[in-house]
Amino acid sequence: MARRKVSVCYIVLTLVVVLVSQSSVVSVSLSNEYVSAVGDSGMRRDALRLAIESWNQCNEVGEETPNMGSPRAADCFDIYKASPQQGQNECSLCKSMPYILVHRVIEKENRLGVGQPFEGISQEALTNVNLYAAEKEVYLGSKCQVEDKPKPWQFWMIMLKSGNMDTKAAICPNNGQKASPFGPDTRFPCFGKGCMNQPLIYHNYTTLQGPNQTMLKGSFYGSWDLDADLRKGMFGSNTSYYSVTWEKQLGKGSWIFHHVLKTSVKYPWLMLYLRSDATAGFSGGYHYPTRGMLKIIPESPDFKVRFTLNVIKGGGPSSQFYLMDMGSCWKNNGQPCDGNETSDVTRYSEMILNPETPSWCHVDDFKLCPLYHTFPNGTRVHRNDTARFPYEAYHLYCAPGNAEYVEEPNVRCDPYSNPQPQEILQILPHPVWGDYGYPTRKGEGWIGDSRTWNLDVGRLSQSLYFYQDPGSVPASRKWTSIDLGPEIYKAPNQVAEWTVTDFNILVARKY
Ligand SMILES: *[C@@H]1O[C@H](CO)[C@@H](O)[C@H](O)[C@H]1NC(C)=O
Ligand SMILES: *[C@@H]1O[C@H](CO)[C@@H](O)[C@H](O)[C@H]1NC(C)=O
Ligand SMILES: *[C@@H]1O[C@H](CO)[C@@H](O)[C@H](O)[C@H]1NC(C)=O
Ligand SMILES: *[C@@H]1O[C@H](CO)[C@@H](O)[C@H](O)[C@H]1NC(C)=O
Ligand SMILES: *[C@@H]1O[C@H](CO)[C@@H](O)[C@H](O)[C@H]1NC(C)=O
Ligand SMILES: *[C@@H]1O[C@H](CO)[C@@H](O)[C@H](O)[C@H]1NC(C)=O
Repeated sequence: MARRKVSVCYIVLTLVVVLVSQSSVVSVSLSNEYVSAVGDSGMRRDALRLAIESWNQCNEVGEETPNMGSPRAADCFDIYKASPQQGQNECSLCKSMPYILVHRVIEKENRLGVGQPFEGISQEALTNVNLYAAEKEVYLGSKCQVEDKPKPWQFWMIMLKSGNMDTKAAICPNNGQKASPFGPDTRFPCFGKGCMNQPLIYHNYTTLQGPNQTMLKGSFYGSWDLDADLRKGMFGSNTSYYSVTWEKQLGKGSWIFHHVLKTSVKYPWLMLYLRSDATAGFSGGYHYPTRGMLKIIPESPDFKVRFTLNVIKGGGPSSQFYLMDMGSCWKNNGQPCDGNETSDVTRYSEMILNPETPSWCHVDDFKLCPLYHTFPNGTRVHRNDTARFPYEAYHLYCAPGNAEYVEEPNVRCDPYSNPQPQEILQILPHPVWGDYGYPTRKGEGWIGDSRTWNLDVGRLSQSLYFYQDPGSVPASRKWTSIDLGPEIYKAPNQVAEWTVTDFNILVARKY
C-alpha cells in the first residue's frame, strides 16, 4: 500500500540546485585573487563525492580479499526534491520526507573484482589485480564526475595502507626495479604468508537521518584482520580497525569526516589519509591514472590549504600524524615524471603533528638532515652550520635511491614502500615554520587543541630542500596529492581518532 504512494510521490523529481554550492570562487574574507583548487570547496556540497582505496606496502593491490572485490569503492549521490504531481495533494510522504538521494554507484559496482568486466575496461586489466583496481577507480570516477571549470572532478579519496611486507615473496620492487626475495627483515612486519592482504571494506551508504531527515550520514569501515568480528566495532577484540563516518546537515555548514584507525599485533603499521588527488595523470605515490578532487593542481609557491582538524586520540608515541602530507613527482634532472619507474621519483613532504615524535636530525650527526634550510627571507643555511641550522625543525630527510650526487653523509629512503624511488622530508613543529602558519611549538593543534589551520603550504614547500642533480633546472613543484591523517608506525593496539572539516585549497587566480 505505502509503496504505491511512494511511487506517485516520486514521479516528479526536481534537482535541488540551491543545496549545491555552484560557486568555486571563494569570496568570504579572502581576496578575490584566490580560487579554490578543489571541486568541493570547503566541503560544503551536500551531494557528496567520496571514494576509498586501499594499498599494500608498495601502493598496489597484490591480492584481492575474498568477497570484497577490488579495493576501490565510492559513495556518490545527488539530492532530489520529491514533489507531488500537479493537482495531487495526497502525497503525505512528500511532506515528511521531502528529499531523496540517488546514488551514482550501486553496491554491485562497488563490489566489482578482477575478472568481472565493466564499461571501458582493457583486456589486460581483466586478469591483473593491480591494473584492475586502477581502471576500476577510473570507472567509478566516470560515475561520480561533476562538470566544473576549469576541469571536471570526481571525489575526495580515503586512502588505506598497511606497511606489512612479505620480503620472501619479493612482491614489492626495489627502487622501481624487480626485487629478489630476502629476509626476514625487522624493518618490515609480516606474520607469514598472506600478510600483505587487503582489508575488509564495509559500506553504510549515505542516507538522510535524524528526527527531521535532514542529517546526511554514511560510512566506510572494516579491518585488515580477516577473522575480525566487527559487530562490536573496534572494542570487542584486539583486531585492527578503521572507520570513516561522514555527516552533514542538509544545506548547512561543512561535512564532518570522523576517522578512527586502530592497529593490531598482525597489522602494527597502518595509514589512513583523507586525500585530495589530481583528477587525471598520476597522484602522489600512485603510478596509474588517478581520479580525484584537484580541478587545479596546486604549484609552489602560490597556494594555501585551510581546514579544521580535531585530534581526539593520537595513535600512540610512534604515530606520525600528518597535519599535511603532500606528494609530487619529478626526475632528478628536474624533468616532470613520465611513468618510467626507474627514473621517476616521488617526493613527499610531511609535517608531523605528534609532539612525541623526536628529531632524528642532529647537530652532531646530520645524515638524516636535509642539505640546507632556507629561511623565509631567502637566507640558506647548510646543515653543517651548527650555529644557525634549525636541527629540531626536522624529523628526518632521506634521499632518493637513484640519486647520483647526494652529499655525504646521507641515508637513502626505503626502496620498497613506493612503486618507484622516493624522497621524503618530514618536518616538526618549530618556530622556523611560524611564518607559514604552521605549528611552532610541540603540542599545538594536538589532542584537546582543535584548530582551524590556514597554511601557506605553497611558500613553505617552495622553500624546502629536495634533491636535484647539480646544475639541473629546478623542477616546478606541482603537488598532485594533498592529504592529512596518521601513519601509525609499527605499534600494535594503538588508536587514532580525529575529525576534518572545511577542507579547502586556494590558489592564486591566473589571469
Ligand atoms: C526539526 O524540526 C523542528 C520543527 O521545524 C525543529 O524545531 C527542530 O529543531 C528540528 N530538529 C533538527 C534536529 O533539525
Ligand atoms: C553502519 O550501520 C549500522 C546499521 O545502521 C550501524 O549499526 C553501524 O554502527 C554503522 N557503522 C558505522 C561504522 O557507521
Ligand atoms: C588486548 O590487548 C591488550 C594489550 O595487549 C590486553 O591487555 C587485552 O587483554 C587484550 N584484549 C583481548 C580481548 O584480547
Ligand atoms: C627509464 O629511465 C632510465 C634511466 O633514465 C633509462 O635508462 C630507460 O631507458 C628508461 N626507460 C624507458 C622505457 O624509457
Ligand atoms: C634572514 O633570517 C635569518 C633567520 O631569521 C636571520 O638569521 C638572517 O640574519 C636574515 N638575513 C637577512 C639578510 O635579513
Ligand atoms: C659545509 O659544507 C659545505 C658544502 O659541502 C662546505 O663547502 C663547507 O666547507 C662546510 N663547512 C664546514 C664548516 O664544514
